[in-house]
Amino acid sequence: MLSKLKGLIKTLLNNIFGIQIIRTVDHIQENEQPKFKMKYVHDPAYSYMLNPEYQDLLIDELAQYADSFFSIRFFDLDSNFNSKVLIRDFFEVYQGRTLTDNTHGSGFHNAFWIYLFARALNPALIVESGVWKGHTTWLLSQACPKADLYGFDRSLKHLEYNQLNAKLFEHDWQTFDFPDFDPDRSLIFFDCHVNHAQRLIEAKSKGFKHILIDDNPPVHKIFSHIPGIPTAAMLHSGQGLEVSEISWIWNSKEVTRSIDLDQAKQAKELIKIHHFLPDVGGPTRYGGFAFLTYIQI
Ligand SMILES: C[S@@+](CC[C@H](N)C(=O)[O-])C[C@H]1O[C@@H](n2cnc3c(N)ncnc32)[C@H](O)[C@@H]1O
Repeated sequence: MLSKLKGLIKTLLNNIFGIQIIRTVDHIQENEQPKFKMKYVHDPAYSYMLNPEYQDLLIDELAQYADSFFSIRFFDLDSNFNSKVLIRDFFEVYQGRTLTDNTHGSGFHNAFWIYLFARALNPALIVESGVWKGHTTWLLSQACPKADLYGFDRSLKHLEYNQLNAKLFEHDWQTFDFPDFDPDRSLIFFDCHVNHAQRLIEAKSKGFKHILIDDNPPVHKIFSHIPGIPTAAMLHSGQGLEVSEISWIWNSKEVTRSIDLDQAKQAKELIKIHHFLPDVGGPTRYGGFAFLTYIQI
C-alpha cells in the first residue's frame, strides 16, 4: 500500500513538475571476505567411501602417481616400499588422527606425500622446522616410528598432540647441533615460512641432503603472504631473482619482500634436484592444493 502511494507521488511529481526522484544507494556492500576457517567436509578423515572395492579404485589411482614419482629414483627406496600397501596404511593412519582442525597446517595432500616420502626414504633422523599443532610431527612419527624425530618451532603454544614420539624445541633450528648422522638416511622438512635460500644454506652446513619444503611457489604463483622469499622454486628457475625486492597483492593488501641476491646465488648452486610433488588434489577431488617439493642438495 505504502509503496503504491510512493509510486503514485513519484509519477505525479514527474508528470506535473518534471521532477524525477532517483533512489540513491547509500550503503555499498563490502567485498565478501575470504573465509579462512577450513571445514573438513571434503577431507578424507571425515568423508570417504566405505565399500572396500571402491576405496581400492582411489588407492589404485593414487598409486599411479606415487609410482610415477618414485620411479625417478631420487634415492634407493626402502626395501618394503609398495605404494598400494603404503597408501592403504596412510588412509588408516590419517583417518585415525585425533586432531580435528589443522587450519594453517598441512591438509590431506601434503600429508599424503609426507607419509609416503618418509616411508620410501625410511630415514633414521627426521627434523621438522614448523611444528604448529604437531600434526605433521605426529604423521612423521607414524610413518617412521624408529627414527629420531626433532621438531622446532619458535612457539609451541599451538601444540595439540601431547604424546609425540619426538624431541621438541621452542626455538629456531639454526643454533642446534645434531649428533653425527648419515645424510643419506636423514630428512629435513621445512614448513616454517623462512627464506628458502637461508634454509638451504643452513641444511647444507648441517650435513643434510634430502629436503621436503612446503609453500614453495614459483614467482608467478605467489598469492599469499606465507612463502619464505626467495622460494626454492625461484632459486631453481632463477625467475624472480632479477631484482632485490618483489611485491604482490595478498588478500587486497600489498606485500613486499626483499631478496639477498648474493645469498640466493649461493643457495641456487646447492640445488641438485628440485621436484614438485605431484598435486593429488585433482585426482582425489578432495580439494586443496599444495606446493610441497623434494629438494636434494
Ligand atoms: C604452517 S605452520 C606448520 C604446520 C605443520 N608443519 C603442519 O603441517 O601441521 C608454520 C609454523 O612455523 C613456525 N615458525 C615460524 N618461524 C619459525 C622458525 N624460525 N623456526 C621454526 N618454526 C617457525 C610457526 O610458529 C608455525 O607454527
